[in-house]
Amino acid sequence: MEIPTKSPLSGNTLAIVSNHFYITTPIYYVNDKPHLGTAYTMVIADAFARWHRIIGDEVFFLTGTDEHGQKIATAAAEKSLSPQAWVDEASRWFADAWSVLNISNDAFIRTTEARHHESVRRFMQAVYDSGYIYKANYEGWYCVACEAYYLEDELGEGRVCPQHKKPAEWMVEENYFFALSKFEEKLLKLYADNPDSIAPLSRYNEIVSQLRQGLMDISITRTSIDWGVKVPWDEKHVFYVWCDALVNYLTAIGYATEEDKVSVWWPNVHHVVGKDIIKFHCIWWPALCMAAGLEPPGHILAHGWLLVSGEKMSKSRLNQIEAASYAERVGVEALRYHFLREITLGADADFSEEGLTARYNSDLANNLGNLLSRVSTLVASKYSGTIPAESICDQGCAMKQSVVTMAKEAVVAWNNFSPDQALLITWNLIREANAFLETNEPWKMQPGDKLSHILSDALEVLQIVAVLAYPAIPDTAQEIWRRIGMDTGVETSLSDVKAINAVFGNGGEAIYQPEAYGLAGNTIIAGEPLFPRRK
Ligand code: MSP
Repeated sequence: MEIPTKSPLSGNTLAIVSNHFYITTPIYYVNDKPHLGTAYTMVIADAFARWHRIIGDEVFFLTGTDEHGQKIATAAAEKSLSPQAWVDEASRWFADAWSVLNISNDAFIRTTEARHHESVRRFMQAVYDSGYIYKANYEGWYCVACEAYYLEDELGEGRVCPQHKKPAEWMVEENYFFALSKFEEKLLKLYADNPDSIAPLSRYNEIVSQLRQGLMDISITRTSIDWGVKVPWDEKHVFYVWCDALVNYLTAIGYATEEDKVSVWWPNVHHVVGKDIIKFHCIWWPALCMAAGLEPPGHILAHGWLLVSGEKMSKSRLNQIEAASYAERVGVEALRYHFLREITLGADADFSEEGLTARYNSDLANNLGNLLSRVSTLVASKYSGTIPAESICDQGCAMKQSVVTMAKEAVVAWNNFSPDQALLITWNLIREANAFLETNEPWKMQPGDKLSHILSDALEVLQIVAVLAYPAIPDTAQEIWRRIGMDTGVETSLSDVKAINAVFGNGGEAIYQPEAYGLAGNTIIAGEPLFPRRK
């Protein structure tokens, strides 16, 4: 199995197999409003979706809400609402928050949809028919917040769940079981053959070591609740919420409704998940897929946790910051940029507003803001606002060489799912351009070959930066694009390989052909500072 990405420029290690890019987030439990931790997951996935759209891939970006199970039924009961009335309301909080955060999902799935019930039943029936499901009694310690059983020695003092710090409950149930243990060898082989399929490597190693320790069969149905998808061969049972939830990734691409569409997107999928749910995605889910006669998912990307003073931000710990109102206060683009630039994908990170403000001032207000305002002012004052045609490039122009190198490195970083690196390199490019202006002091020059050359170079950097920064700060990128006189949408600017090559250049030289850019003759549009400095 190959990891799909179309990367005509990057020369990276990922194989080029398809220009269909399917990316998913976990579907969220609707027991409370989305907090910054879940917003972080969304911003990561959104950046990758946007990057792949801009390089011309056909993208399907899926998110949604996980609406069944004990936890949701309890949340509804606490509000004296029916589960359905509750999930209808709470699901909207998520859709609304993601629209505030400028998340560009193509679909929003809800597990209470009829098509999803149909899809889960069909999928699990296939697993049943292939002989991997049996009936037995189950007893154990159950954490309702995790919707998972724990072994006694996995629980803390007072038998509290290690994640939620709440006491687990003793449950005895007649359940159907999935014979997960039969998939140990198959999964070990899958991961030995596909070492890139779980990122980062530390999580890959964690999964492989769990597999080596051996797998136990898992209970996949419940009779204690009825808020779920009914088991088709025994309707007294509903499916355990994780089995129900994982299938959303197939429902959304037509598993029960448009079966011929499934192979367009499957198995070349990128599941973005938090590190706490990799067992479900890297062990249960591929095993269930294999049991149902499908290929396992292609790529799991596990990010770390957003922490507040060292503790995971979560609904059950009351240290959460509500996502939408916070983003509105600090600025959506500032928040998105901070998440993506500050945190290496996979690592935990303490979130603080001081950190966000520091990055905002240094990277957005100073570096990026300065470059745009300097260049705009120069074109306005020296050329009455019309971008001059570029003169022939002198040999040995230092900035041009490094622009080519850096732009390519940033492309590779985006293709390799390293947003912090991509943005680090992009901001190095901005710094380089600012330094280039400071060295050459174009403000002291009269219009002529040299000045037009310097300005064209700086404008090209701005144009490239708009593209490279677009996944993180889409509205700002579009605004830069507009201010340098482009009348297209930045997101569609590179939608064919020829255009990508024109901008980033395979050989490097194409990057400086003004006609590839169409900047000469454009009118610069003046405007307010992109990011006013903050205290
Ligand atoms: N419903 C399941 C997922 C089913 S996917 C088929 C679930 N939901 S959740 O709402 O509890 O969590 C969803 C995601 O949010 C997980 O990936 C989790 O890691 C992530 N986060 C929750 N709190 C977080 C932080 N504090 N920091 C980063 N991510 C966080 O699990």
